Amino acid sequence: MNELKVLDKTFVPFISEATIQEKIKEIAALINAEYQDKKPLFISILNGSFMFAADLFKQVTVDAEICFIKLASYKGTQSTGHVITSIGLDSNVKDRHIIVLEDIIDTGKTLHSFLPQLVNQQPASLKIATLLHKPEATVHPLTIDYCCISIPNKFVVGYGLDYDGFGRNTKEIYQLKD
Ligand code: XMP
Ligand code: MG
Repeated sequence: MNELKVLDKTFVPFISEATIQEKIKEIAALINAEYQDKKPLFISILNGSFMFAADLFKQVTVDAEICFIKLASYKGTQSTGHVITSIGLDSNVKDRHIIVLEDIIDTGKTLHSFLPQLVNQQPASLKIATLLHKPEATVHPLTIDYCCISIPNKFVVGYGLDYDGFGRNTKEIYQLKD
């Protein structure tokens, strides 16, 4: 893996494709064991989680549905703190076993403002699966039920994660170079 140039910034290799896929298989195995006969509904938060959602969903062997919603709280390399819903939820959440899929939990603000909207719709259960978590950056504590990889508080791109819209199209994850 080589350095990656995205717009005006340089990123260095951080998490390999093999590690990402291995961790996804691990959480898929937990989900498959836990959700037999529960017909879970995965809610993938766009844009960042699309690759994670696709790879995880391929490993899910129980009957399951997936839908996609769009929220945004990020511009550039710093969280703006504003959460905007731009594509609504069209699936019925009531009495369903919900698993929310995130690419990364940073401050926790996005899920902190979104989860109550789901809780209002009375799901049978509600769990969170994330590819990445930055524990040092999290200011809104959340119970993360399925976390693939915890990372230090440094900006990352690749595998769906972007820097101002670019840098999503890699199989690996890269970290901002010092
Ligand atoms: P919060 O702070 O609400 O952030 O937990 C979650 C959203 O912020 C974006 N985010 C990042 N995107 N590299 C990115 O490409 C990062 O290091 C990063 N940290 C946070 C992301 O969209 C996530 O859904
Ligand atoms: Mg995101």
